[in-house]
Amino acid sequence: MLEVYRHYKGAHYLRLISALHSEDLAEHEVYRTLYDNPKSRVWVRPAEMFHGLTDDGEPRFSLVGAVGRAFPEDEAELAGFGYDTWGKGVTLDAFLAADLLDPDTRRGERWFLRDSAGEKVSVLNLLRLARGVVGIASVVTNPERRGNGFASLLVRAVMELAWIEDSATRFFLFAEERPQMYERLGFHTLSESEQHFKPALAMATGDAPLTPLEREIVRVYF
Ligand SMILES: CC(C)(COP(=O)(O)OP(=O)(O)OC[C@H]1O[C@@H](n2cnc3c(N)ncnc32)[C@H](O)[C@@H]1OP(=O)(O)O)[C@@H](O)C(=O)NCCC(=O)NCCS
Repeated sequence: MLEVYRHYKGAHYLRLISALHSEDLAEHEVYRTLYDNPKSRVWVRPAEMFHGLTDDGEPRFSLVGAVGRAFPEDEAELAGFGYDTWGKGVTLDAFLAADLLDPDTRRGERWFLRDSAGEKVSVLNLLRLARGVVGIASVVTNPERRGNGFASLLVRAVMELAWIEDSATRFFLFAEERPQMYERLGFHTLSESEQHFKPALAMATGDAPLTPLEREIVRVYF
């Protein structure tokens, strides 16, 4: 899994890999901003400095958690996070059993975030709909851990990883709640003519008009 760090000034970063400097073999950390930084999205720093203290004696970067792909053995715990929202009228066991079989929840890639203690906290589905067109669905955080910024970090981290592969990638989602959270992550609400599933709001990144394929994706909810 890839670690997420909080810089002492408040911004978040995804540590991508360690690397050795070609000249002196000093270890370095390579990391990516989890926010728009016009200077650069990818930075490198000596590992000793990255993991060291500031002049004021506080850690320069503090571990917040880690992001990675979910494996089948992770699913029972992750699926349970949505029970309070999507499991109305059924037992938890019935909800989990149905979730494991549901092709809609299972399609795509499941990505999740652990906290710094290793506990699973948030999960989402990443749907690669076409080259450069990615859907984000079923974003959910453990009910006991909501409101701590975990879903925001997970969504942004998977966006940054997709942008490493293709910087032109455009993301789509249907916000059932908290559209402001997605606005802070770079999404905007699509025009009224693209809203077919209210109250869920169709949102996307990027300013370009929707292509015919993207319009169709929004019309059929992915
Ligand atoms: C929607 C949901 C995934 C958000 O998860 P979360 O981990 O609580 O999300 P975040 O903490 O990143 O953001 C939620 C709010 O907490 C706030 N917040 C509180 N503390 C924060 C912190 N330390 N850092 C960042 N945001 C913080 C955010 O500003 C945000 O507020 P806003 O939406 O009013 O602007 C969660 O509420 C959930 O699981 N709901 C049930 C399932 C669901 O409805 N999913 C949505 C499908 S679209």
